[in-house]
Amino acid sequence: MKDQDIIDLSWDEFDELRDPRPDANGFDAVVERAISRRGFLGGALAFGSGALAMGASLMSSTTAARAEGMGFNFKPIDIATDYDVHVPEGYQWKTLVRWGDALFSEAQGAYSPETGVPVEMSDKVFGENTDGMETFVDGDKTILAINSEYVNPKINLPVASEGMPQNADEVMMLKNMQGVTVVEVADNGDGYEVVVDSAYNRRITHETQMIMDGPAAGSDLVKTKADPAGLNPKGTMNNCGSGKTLWGTYLTCEENFNGYFGATGDYEVTEGLKRYGIGGEGRYAYEKFDPRYDLTQEPNEPNRHGWVTEINPLDPTSTPVKHTALGRFKHENAEMVQAKDGRVVVYMGDDERGEFMYKYVSNGTYTEGGSTEGLLSDGTLYVAKFNDDLTGEWLALTPETTGMPMEDILVFARIAGSKVGATTMDRPEWIAANPLKVEAYCALTNNKNRGVKPNAGGDETPASGPNPRETNNYGQIVRWKPAGEDHGATEFTWDLYVMAGNPTVYDNAYAGSENVNAGNMFNSPDGMAFSSDGYLWIQTDGDDSNEGEFEGQGNNQMLVGNTETGEIARFLTAPNGAEVTGLTWSPDKKVAFVGIQHPGGSWPDGNGKPRSSVIAVWREDGALIG
Ligand code: FEO
Ligand code: CA
Ligand code: CA
Ligand code: CA
Repeated sequence: MKDQDIIDLSWDEFDELRDPRPDANGFDAVVERAISRRGFLGGALAFGSGALAMGASLMSSTTAARAEGMGFNFKPIDIATDYDVHVPEGYQWKTLVRWGDALFSEAQGAYSPETGVPVEMSDKVFGENTDGMETFVDGDKTILAINSEYVNPKINLPVASEGMPQNADEVMMLKNMQGVTVVEVADNGDGYEVVVDSAYNRRITHETQMIMDGPAAGSDLVKTKADPAGLNPKGTMNNCGSGKTLWGTYLTCEENFNGYFGATGDYEVTEGLKRYGIGGEGRYAYEKFDPRYDLTQEPNEPNRHGWVTEINPLDPTSTPVKHTALGRFKHENAEMVQAKDGRVVVYMGDDERGEFMYKYVSNGTYTEGGSTEGLLSDGTLYVAKFNDDLTGEWLALTPETTGMPMEDILVFARIAGSKVGATTMDRPEWIAANPLKVEAYCALTNNKNRGVKPNAGGDETPASGPNPRETNNYGQIVRWKPAGEDHGATEFTWDLYVMAGNPTVYDNAYAGSENVNAGNMFNSPDGMAFSSDGYLWIQTDGDDSNEGEFEGQGNNQMLVGNTETGEIARFLTAPNGAEVTGLTWSPDKKVAFVGIQHPGGSWPDGNGKPRSSVIAVWREDGALIG
């Protein structure tokens, strides 16, 4: 495959290069095996998997209340297929910050619609492909920490390079577009604005010096020529979802880090490299211009990425910390809650087809204002096992349960998860915990390989449990309630909050659950966050062709879910080509900040390159929105 082809692949397709799929069953055959929608929702019919029937039964009990309808305080909007953002009547939106917008006055005017951002200014502007974000408050100041996930070289590179960097400067420019932006924003009464030159403003990129802590720090697995102690890795990359600690720091989650490494010569093909989809040619050719990304020269560098990294956005001089105790995988987000006894619990998903859901539980406890020492470096990593009877358990990953040394368990968490029999999932994206109830939700975005092929470690992926549909192109959201209403418990019960689908195209399980209808349907739930009033906001990253099995679903969107009644209503639609990702609120909850990633056309400027942006959304009457 030629370079310019690699760059056009989705991350899923890139994974597939490393782990090819056999000829799949035809979709028709899958549908034939599916039951009628009525039977599915009735919940009692056998459909290959007992779990499907029982999951459906629980679902229908939650959706039964739907007729009463708690409703929403906005009028749901229709789908859109255009290159614009739409919000409900009575709401306003504006662009807060776009890729290339200056964080410092020296970078003002650096962005050009023809050439993008020059390398020397590339780490002084807002990054590309905005993703997870969180709000922080320091006195009367509002600070946002915002992830920039990846790059679109065909858009971002200034020359006709067919999407591949041609020299070290271009590699540096692409690297600087990723990472994290910390930026102060000020309430101007009109959806906030960026405070250029604020002392809080900061970019954290592939180049930022970090430290590493936890059991794998300093191990042979993470030592490189540049860092023989294995304690001082450089850089964070492919920053996807986010989290906020109880003590007010930012967690940035490194997702598709595998794509940045490649080999210029020989290298040892290990089980670890294979399981994480690393090897051969890198997706962005970084290895050709920067030896850090070259497996032939630095075989351990990939082991220093794929972590949850903690940043203090209120201290621009602070050194970010990579926490190995939370495990290494394609981290989506990190949702921190507290166990009844005060221990810190972090829920995490590994977004790849057939990979796992994890949680970390600290040994120490947190009290407000108390020491946070060791809370993210000394604890136990668990992986989720879902049973078909709607129960589940968190399996500890320890040397005793896995037969692996602790540093191997953490660096190769996927391999450890396979050893204990974790449940292969339909791509776990964001996890959100209900602030009003002891329960949590995970968006299982889709999995075309469900029931078709094993995961990259050879674990089977039968349609079962919370992943009940073969060739699952729509996705679902699983919910679990920890035993004893304690996030520290190792047992839980689960159900499905929603199965996405298309009830106008299908009359079977692919129509989705009963809380999906022609008026609110969507595919591929991804970003999720709870507002303080207990509503679940759902963002999508799916097929926006509005054709075939996706007809009637339109552009990617943001919906609001009532978790008591099951009702789901569409709140926002994104420009065609974009996914909606990242959601946080102003301190007074009157403004929502929403990420619009990889828009199509030339949104939002209407000329030149499309620019990934954070938008602000608020109600015209000044009422709360979050
Ligand atoms: Fe970066 Fe899985 O989304
Ligand atoms: Ca995502
Ligand atoms: Ca996604
Ligand atoms: Ca994305």
